[in-house]
Formats: sequence, structure tokens, C-alpha cells
Amino acid sequence: MPDNILRFLKGKKDYISGQEISSALGITRAAVWKKIRLLRSKGFIIAASPSKGYRLVSSPDLSIDEIRANVVGSFWRQVLFYEQLESTNETATSLSVDKDIEGGVVILTDAQSRGKGRLGRAWVSPPGSNIYMSIILKPELSPKDSTLLTLLAAVASATALRKASGLAISIKWPNDLMIADKKTGGILTEVRFEPDKIKVAVIGIGINVNIEKKDFPDEIKNIATSLKEETGQSYARSNIIVLLLKEIEAWYKLLMKKGRGPLLEEWNELSSTIGKRVTVSSGKEVFAGKAEGIDEEGLLIIRLQSGALKKVSAGDVTILK
Ligand code: BTN
Repeated sequence: MPDNILRFLKGKKDYISGQEISSALGITRAAVWKKIRLLRSKGFIIAASPSKGYRLVSSPDLSIDEIRANVVGSFWRQVLFYEQLESTNETATSLSVDKDIEGGVVILTDAQSRGKGRLGRAWVSPPGSNIYMSIILKPELSPKDSTLLTLLAAVASATALRKASGLAISIKWPNDLMIADKKTGGILTEVRFEPDKIKVAVIGIGINVNIEKKDFPDEIKNIATSLKEETGQSYARSNIIVLLLKEIEAWYKLLMKKGRGPLLEEWNELSSTIGKRVTVSSGKEVFAGKAEGIDEEGLLIIRLQSGALKKVSAGDVTILK
């Protein structure tokens, strides 16, 4: 695995000699050269000079080696990559059920042929531009707390995207990642339960990174956006994935240590729904009111026009201007 060599090259702005790499990694100079060739075959541009050694010039937009080198450890145990899948959530579910895979596994793909959205919808998943990722977690949480995982993924995603792009990404309840009134990402959490605890949670995250408006299907052209559409700039997906996995790890550890308080507080901070007049469509019901907040389990609390409070567990929210 060329992971360590990558970490080395990334840490240096200037050339680093083959001898230095070989002593630090405890491998021969021929082995160093072999790893450099392997990295080049995966799209890394590495300059080589007989007198000065090697220098990393640029990394590919989506590099599994780079992601692994930055995140794999005691929390994220494995990062699995597939060129194309039907759906990363489906693959994560079968791995966790059939193979009884451990928690802390990440499934990534470049394209999905049957990407799944919330409420039975499809998730547009063309190759070469976006992030499609599912993570498998096995938290010590009771079934009623499983919605916290979705809130956690939303907070982590909004924070990572803010860091990567500088854009004011917000969360529209329950877990849409928004730039102003357009959606740039979504989260689909699927949980299996044991009688009194979560058996396994699969959290699927889709983020529109470099897709352009012309490539969205007509029906979502006016309601969807991407980081590139908003800033005119392309983003390295690997960087965003690393930021995202680090945020998820940090929020997960905080949740386990300090309970739900800090997470709910941050969700409220990032939310574009709370305090607004909204209409909610939940099942066959449609009603209007003011979004007052979320409760301890992440349900949306609406103050109806009659003054009564109503809690919503699933549905679509439209924010009224
Ligand atoms: C939504 O409707 O807002 C949720 C969208 C979730 C999409 C992601 S893409 C990766 C993962 N695999 C899927 O099939 N869906 C989720």
C-alpha cells in the first residue's frame, strides 16, 4: 500500500530524496520507486529528479489511497471503493448483514445506477463529479435515539462543506444540505434494530460537488445545485471526503462522551428551518405553521395556526418567504 509514502510526500513542499523515504519507511529504494509508479498510475503527478528525489505535484480528484492515508485508524477501519454500484447503501447493508462486517467501514463509489433518496425517491448519481458514500456504524444507542445519527451526519456534512467551500451551507429539516434555497446534498439513514439497541446503522451521504446545472435532470434543475455551480470552482472530492469523515468521527466521539446536548445545539445553529414559517407535507397530510425547534429525538416541532404544537417524524418541509 503506498499510503505512508503519500503521507510523506504530502507533508513536504519541496523534493524529498529517495534515500530519505526509504530509510523512514524501512523499504528499499527500488520499493520506493515501485510505489511512486503505482501512485502515478492512479493519477498522482509526481516529479522525479535524479539529484533531488521526488515531489508531489498534484493529486487526482478522487483518490482512495489519499483518503485511506488520512483517515484509516482505530475509528475508520476500512475504506472500500467501487467504480460503480447500484447504491452504496445497498452494498453497505448487504456487507453488514451477510458478512457481519464491523462498525467504522466506509463504502465509496464514483457512480450509482440506482441511487436511493428519501421517501422512495431516486438520487441522481452520474460518474466523475459527486460524492456517494455510506458508512457502517454500530453505536451503543437505543433504537429511539437512532435519529441522532442522521442529525450527526447532517451537522458533520454541513461543517465539512463549509470548511471546503466557504459557502454558508445550512440544514433543512430533516437532513437536506442547502445553499440558500437549493439542495446540494442529502442523507439517507437505514437502521436495523435488536430488541433494545441498534444492531447496525447505514448512513448514506450524497453530495453534489462538481456536477453542472446542465447535467441535472429537468425536474430538479431549479431546486438542486452543487458546490461548483455556486462558486465556479472545481473541488477535489478526496479532500471533502477526508474532512467529512473527520467531522463524523469527532461528532460521534462527542455524542458518546457528552450526550446529545452539543449535537442538538449545533444542529439548531446550522438549521435554516427553525424560526421560519413552513408548510409540511407528511404522508397524506399538508399543514402550515411555524417551525419552533426539534425535540430530543430530532422530531420537528410545529406551532400550528391554532396555537397547538405538532411533532413531525418524516416529511418534506417548504420554507415560506
Ligand atoms: C435525500 O433524499 O435527500 C437522501 C439522499 C441520499 C443519497 C445518498 S448517495 C449515497 C447513498 N447511497 C444511496 O443510494 N443513497 C445515499
